[in-house]
Amino acid sequence: MCGIVGYVGKRDCTKVLIDALSKLEYRGYDSAGIAVFENGGISVAKTKGRLRDLCEKMKKTHIPSGHSGIGHTRWATHGEPNDVNSHPHAGGKVTIVHNGIIENYKALKDFLVSKGRHFQSETDTEVVAQLLDYYYCGNPIECIQKTLSEIQGSFALGIIFADRPDVVYAVRRESPLIVGLGKDENFIASDVTAILQYTRDYYLLEHDEIAVLGMDGVKVFDSHGSEIKKERKTADWDVDAAEKQGYEHFMLKEIHEQPTAVKTTITPRISDGLPDLSECGITVEKLRSFNQIFIVACGTAMHAGLVGKYIIEELARVPVVVDIASEFRYRNPLVGVGDLVIIISQSGETADSLAALRLAKSLGASTLGIVNAKGSSIARESDMLIYTHAGPEIAVASTKAYMVQLSVMYLFAFELALAKEKIDEAECRRLIGLLRQTPDLIASILESADACQKISSQLINADHLLYIGRGLDYALSMEGSLKLKEISYIHSESYAAGELKHGTISLITNGMPVIAVATQTKLLEKTVSNIKEVKARGAKTIVVCQQGMEIDPSAVDFKIEIPKFEDIIMPMPAVVPLQLIAYYTSVLRGNDVDKPRNLAKSVTVE
Ligand code: F6R
Repeated sequence: MCGIVGYVGKRDCTKVLIDALSKLEYRGYDSAGIAVFENGGISVAKTKGRLRDLCEKMKKTHIPSGHSGIGHTRWATHGEPNDVNSHPHAGGKVTIVHNGIIENYKALKDFLVSKGRHFQSETDTEVVAQLLDYYYCGNPIECIQKTLSEIQGSFALGIIFADRPDVVYAVRRESPLIVGLGKDENFIASDVTAILQYTRDYYLLEHDEIAVLGMDGVKVFDSHGSEIKKERKTADWDVDAAEKQGYEHFMLKEIHEQPTAVKTTITPRISDGLPDLSECGITVEKLRSFNQIFIVACGTAMHAGLVGKYIIEELARVPVVVDIASEFRYRNPLVGVGDLVIIISQSGETADSLAALRLAKSLGASTLGIVNAKGSSIARESDMLIYTHAGPEIAVASTKAYMVQLSVMYLFAFELALAKEKIDEAECRRLIGLLRQTPDLIASILESADACQKISSQLINADHLLYIGRGLDYALSMEGSLKLKEISYIHSESYAAGELKHGTISLITNGMPVIAVATQTKLLEKTVSNIKEVKARGAKTIVVCQQGMEIDPSAVDFKIEIPKFEDIIMPMPAVVPLQLIAYYTSVLRGNDVDKPRNLAKSVTVE
């Protein structure tokens, strides 16, 4: 989704803005622009396309030169991606960049048109710029407050006023925005990774708080206009974590970071060989009190929830419903007091997941956030919170965040099963022992990269393919399929292997690839029958299984073997070849692996 940056300081502002925006490219965008105070005025440069297109355009026309300004990468919502709709947008003395959606922009636009105002673009953002200007009588804070009282929706805004040179104003409601604090320079950014190379200190802005950034400091005002003192935070992510470090793509780097990410996530939550989530606000008494669990999330995070359902139900015998957040929030869910709603989110800002969290709270349920981005909205609003320690995930396709979400699902399931007395302490210690071995197991699978690359070379010309599996393998095949389609652009579906015969098998044609995940010993025989069924109809079969599993070789064209381990843990190592196959297929097809078309990393609008 859109990325916002702003700068006030002594450096070359254009350079800082472009550099900071480049760190937000992973969020997904289709146009970019900057506005810089220059020679007593404001110079705007913007274009449809990538940052490199913006830089080219500036080289050919004019490179704004100054020490303060705002910048933006746009992910189109209102109005197609073109130069005019790109941000920044101006209205009289006011120039702004905006992330989010102004829900009542039409009514406001009608009002402004009735007052004789003319609009250049189709965007909701220009309406805010014009409204700010309409109310501006020389007092920026007052005019921002007045505008805030009239606009509805989710937004983060970077604002500059032509007659207030070298001052940047910022405000947010729902959408993320931080204020970076340097020495004689200050920043705004949609997330802290954008400015890590300049500073790690920042303020988190609460809804409707207004920040005023000058070179010599930052002032923050509450929604009534009173100055407030903010707590200074320090990011524990370093610059290296947000760089590629020699890997060709962030996605590959992040796949390789998985063993460390799991270790960092689980180690502090294990005490004396047992899970200990007390620091996250999760106590044995609370765990005992939950009758029913809902896991609500989107995309890959929801797939982690599906694995969670299998293991929680298997070990703790508590019923779990997994829901897509955009469905949950509008289906009047049967959730209430005594239920636990778990929201899983890497970014902690996904609009539907955040809305689901708020709905669950309003219905009286207890809420647990499993979140990677520190200080994000879901992290702040959840009753209980487990941070996953994956570090910044830059590639749009989620890999390491999924892996640590799985590791937390295991910790949680083990602790719940113990609290509910469905397993004893000895069994819980044994399970924790298994979980502790997963970083090495994952590391060993990373060595199968060449085999995965070979398999990818077989897939690159496919138009369609299927992923099949049963039980935990089905949950995993959904993630494998999503990963492949989002970055390779090959159409794929995942199916419960036993369901094929009820319609889908008619899709199988000669040479169509079918990736079968078959790691579950108890279900192996059944899954192998399904593999044979598709093979007999001409499919090219690729099987992911455990070493030593007996599978009729005539049913298998390619095989990837995971070192033999306990079935229940299999999703963690077995997802790695699926990630690698998706990665190499995308590379071989020449796609933009880290920034697939049409996708945004952080989906802060519905
Ligand atoms: C797929 C992917 C998305 C996200 C989904 C939820 O690779 O990354 O499906 O998992 O948009 O995002 P978060 O976890 O930030 O709520």
